[in-house]
Amino acid sequence: MFRLYGRKSSFKKDPASAITLINEVKKKKPSVFLEVGVYQGVTSRNICELLNKINLGNFQYIGVDIFDLQLDKEEFTTKHNYISNPFKWIYFNFITKNKPDSFLGVKSFLSKFEKNIELHRGFSDNILPILDLNKVDFCFLDGGHSYETVKNDLTILVAKMKKKSVIICDDYDQVGYGVKKAVDELSNTVTSIESLNKRLVKITV
Ligand SMILES: C[S@@+](CC[C@H](N)C(=O)[O-])C[C@H]1O[C@@H](n2cnc3c(N)ncnc32)[C@H](O)[C@@H]1O
Repeated sequence: MFRLYGRKSSFKKDPASAITLINEVKKKKPSVFLEVGVYQGVTSRNICELLNKINLGNFQYIGVDIFDLQLDKEEFTTKHNYISNPFKWIYFNFITKNKPDSFLGVKSFLSKFEKNIELHRGFSDNILPILDLNKVDFCFLDGGHSYETVKNDLTILVAKMKKKSVIICDDYDQVGYGVKKAVDELSNTVTSIESLNKRLVKITV
């Protein structure tokens, strides 16, 4: 099951892909999970709920995003933050007083797992080099989608993550994005590259 929790997610219109990701996590049973591109925290929350069950509370979730900062270059992931539902508008503006994609908004949404989560606010090219990626078993790469950003993120991840760890990239099928080219260029460097469906591609380091 994949819940939306009344928030926006790139999986909203494609729940089948969300289930595909969830099934891969169930198979791998990671204890340290990294998500690059957290947005409003919907996938993060689903992953935390799942890992909490699988690992009986003993897991770590690391999330990297610029959160509500504006992108200074084209990354193809327009953030749709317009809140049309008046009840949600009141909730986010007057009750929580945190935008759903802000650092504090996501932190509060994931507060049930406060002991397990580590959120980093910044661009992946600044944050990934300072993380201890050697302990990460599973990465969902869904941040910037330009060729330069995906190439740079994957170069760091593949160099630092341990052998047989897994990276799943979103939007492999999007023509004009840089995901496909950056992933395909790894074919001689990693153990395997496997399309899980049209959209998701799995790299085994
Ligand atoms: C498609 S959304 C992520 C959706 C989320 N994974 C989910 O399943 O709901 C992409 C996110 O990546 C972030 N982002 C884009 N470029 C980035 C970069 N270079 N470094 C860090 N975050 C970035 C955006 O702020 C946005 O929140």
